[in-house]
Amino acid sequence: MKAIILQLADSAPVIYILARQDTAMRILVTKPILNEALEALKPLGAVDVAGGLSYDNLRAVVRDYDAIVSMLTDKFDAGMFEYAKGGPLRIVANYAVGHDNIDTVAAKAAGIWATNTPDALTEATAEMAWALVFAAARRLIEGDVLARSGEWKGWTPTQLVGSAISGGVVGIVGAGRIGQAFARMGAGFRVTVLYHNRKRDEKFERTGAAYRDLDSLLAESDIVSVHLPANAESRRLISKERIAKMKPSAILVSTGRGNVIDEAALAEALKARRIRAAGLDVYENEPSIHADLIGLPNVVLAPHLGSATTSSRVGMALRCADNIRDAIAGRRPKDALQA
Ligand code: GLV
Ligand code: GLV
Repeated sequence: MKAIILQLADSAPVIYILARQDTAMRILVTKPILNEALEALKPLGAVDVAGGLSYDNLRAVVRDYDAIVSMLTDKFDAGMFEYAKGGPLRIVANYAVGHDNIDTVAAKAAGIWATNTPDALTEATAEMAWALVFAAARRLIEGDVLARSGEWKGWTPTQLVGSAISGGVVGIVGAGRIGQAFARMGAGFRVTVLYHNRKRDEKFERTGAAYRDLDSLLAESDIVSVHLPANAESRRLISKERIAKMKPSAILVSTGRGNVIDEAALAEALKARRIRAAGLDVYENEPSIHADLIGLPNVVLAPHLGSATTSSRVGMALRCADNIRDAIAGRRPKDALQA
C-alpha cells in the first residue's frame, strides 16, 4: 500500500484513504462529493477523495490510478494525458456534462477514455435556468434584500415591479437536452418557444418549438435562455452587437458555460437598461465574476449551481461509475466523448 500525501491547492486536508487493497482497482475523486454519491463508486474498488488538486498535484498522482473522477475545474490537457500515457489510467470520468476542461483528442491519443454525465443533470440545470428567470423577472433578490433590510415601509403599487413570464416568447440558444427540458417546463406558463441550434431538430419542432436564426430569436424573445457549451464556435457568441438586438424589456439567462457571453458588454447593457435584467450561473473566469456585474441590481448571480441537487449529483456519480466499469472491462463507455 502506498500512502499518498499531497500538498493541496487549498489548505484542506489531502487525500483521504478510504480503503485500500493493493489488488483493488484504484479510483481518485478529485474533490469531495456527497456521501450518497460516493457510495456509487465504492463498489468499484479503492476510492481516494482529494480536496481539490492544483494542476501540478494532479499531475503528480495521475499515474497512480486506474480511473479518475474529474471535476470541471480540473484541466486535463495534452500535457496531462502525455504524462499519464502508458500508466494504469484507463478513464477520466468527468463529473459534469460540460467537458471543455478535457482535451478529448489528447485523451484518445493516450488510449484513455474521457466521459461525461449527460441526462443525470438535465432537469436540475433546466430548473436552475428557470430559477434565474423567475428571480430576474420578479426581482426576487432585490426583494429579499429589502425584506431583510429593516427599511421596508409596506406594500405600494410601484414597489419592485417586474415583468410577467406567462404567455411570453422564450428563445432557447442551444437546444440540446437541457435547452429542450427548459422548453418543456415552460409549457405550464404557456410560453411560445423559439430555438436556435447548430442543427434543426424536427422532433423538437413537433412539440411546437420554432427555429430562428440567432438574430431573429434575440429580437423576438422576451426571455432568452443560453444553454451552450464552451467551444470555438460559441465563444462570446452573445456579443455586444447581439445583445443590442434584444428587446429593452428582455431577460437573458445563461447556465451553460460563461465564455459564451461577453460579460463586459452584458454589464454595459444592463447598466444602460438596454435590456431589463439577466441571470447568470456561469462565468468566463470562474470563480471570479466580472467586476462590472457585481454592483448591478438587475442581474442575479449564482455560483455555478446548475446541477446542484442531491438527486442530480448522485445520478452523476452513478453515471461515472457505469463509465468506469465499462472502461476497466475493456468496453467503450456509454458516455465516451471521443470518436
Ligand atoms: C456543469 O456545469 C456541468 O457541465 O456539468
Ligand atoms: C446537455 O446535456 C445538453 O445537451 O444540453
